[in-house]
Amino acid sequence: MNYTETGVLEANQIKIKNHLTDLGIDNIRKEIITGLTSKHKHISSKFFYDDLGSKLFEDITKLPEYYPTRTEKSILNKIAPILMNDLEKTDLVELGSGDCSKIKILLNSIQKENLKTINYIPVDVSLSAINDSAQELTDLFPDLSINGIVADFINQLDLIPAERKRMFFFLGSTIGNFTEDISANFLKNLSDNMNSGDTFILGADLVKSSTVLHEAYNDAQGITADFNKNILNVINNLIESDFNISDFEHKAFFNEEKSRIEMHLIAKEDLQIKSPYHHDDIYIKKGENIHTENSYKFSMKRIKELEEITGLKINQIYTDNNNWFALILFEK
Ligand code: SAH
Ligand code: AVI
Repeated sequence: MNYTETGVLEANQIKIKNHLTDLGIDNIRKEIITGLTSKHKHISSKFFYDDLGSKLFEDITKLPEYYPTRTEKSILNKIAPILMNDLEKTDLVELGSGDCSKIKILLNSIQKENLKTINYIPVDVSLSAINDSAQELTDLFPDLSINGIVADFINQLDLIPAERKRMFFFLGSTIGNFTEDISANFLKNLSDNMNSGDTFILGADLVKSSTVLHEAYNDAQGITADFNKNILNVINNLIESDFNISDFEHKAFFNEEKSRIEMHLIAKEDLQIKSPYHHDDIYIKKGENIHTENSYKFSMKRIKELEEITGLKINQIYTDNNNWFALILFEK
């Protein structure tokens, strides 16, 4: 995540450009301070993903309690030969691409001679995630062209090239990290941005037993707690504040009524946080919450409603044997 330095990296088949600076660091600071001075304090979950945050998320995906990644990968392994059959001359656009381990499954199913005609376009706020994964992918698939876009997909979707046929991927149930309004707007924008013949594959985590959900966000090793607290280090870098992560406790629970996991940071003491970008100290009372993430869990009813929200047609819904996760194939 780099909101202050522009940069283009070009090497062989890889091009990576940072567009985060276009958002303006002042706007980013304003967004953070507005959240921290609201009645119910909150920080956007997009700020989890600096270099360390991206690594901690990768560690989470390997935890025994965190079922979404391996469940989604099991579905992808099953359907990759169907999705990638005879695929050529297409841009594979992955929103919130992270470590790219899921696109690897799909690329493995593309006929070798067709790979030359494929562009992979990862879009992510994490520059380090795009850099590392682009390197790994070119080692594995030397013929593949990679055009990495470091950007905020909520505000910067129009940066995605539109000249060729495109297949969009939004995996991992990252869509669940946005409120219903923001995700509906985002999906509508994406759909407007798509051309006839483009497809979109969305990963959505499904409602399940609250025990399974609770454990996935309260792992025994405390990696999710570290991931949650690291957001304060990211904020310290962006607004030069003096949060100390040891002043906070991790809290995650399933809010059944809203069908979402909520993550919060709870202050252990009364705190007074300083930032040169805010005229006054930020006061946090002992026991007060900073809301850092929602992770909505979807019902089939909600998934079917997405047809109306997006104006796209659902071609297929693929799930695992437990019905824990869904991959939805939309067409325009
Ligand atoms: N798709 C991967 C990673 C999921 S983690 C997987 O399924 O495992 C969520 C990813 O989305 C992170 O890599 C994070 O950096 C990225 N992300 C979160 N909010 C974003 C935003 N607003 N714009 C662009 N990327 C974002
Ligand atoms: C990226 N996103 C879908 C993850 C989730 O499950 O909501 C982020 C995460 N938060 C805690 N653990 C993982």
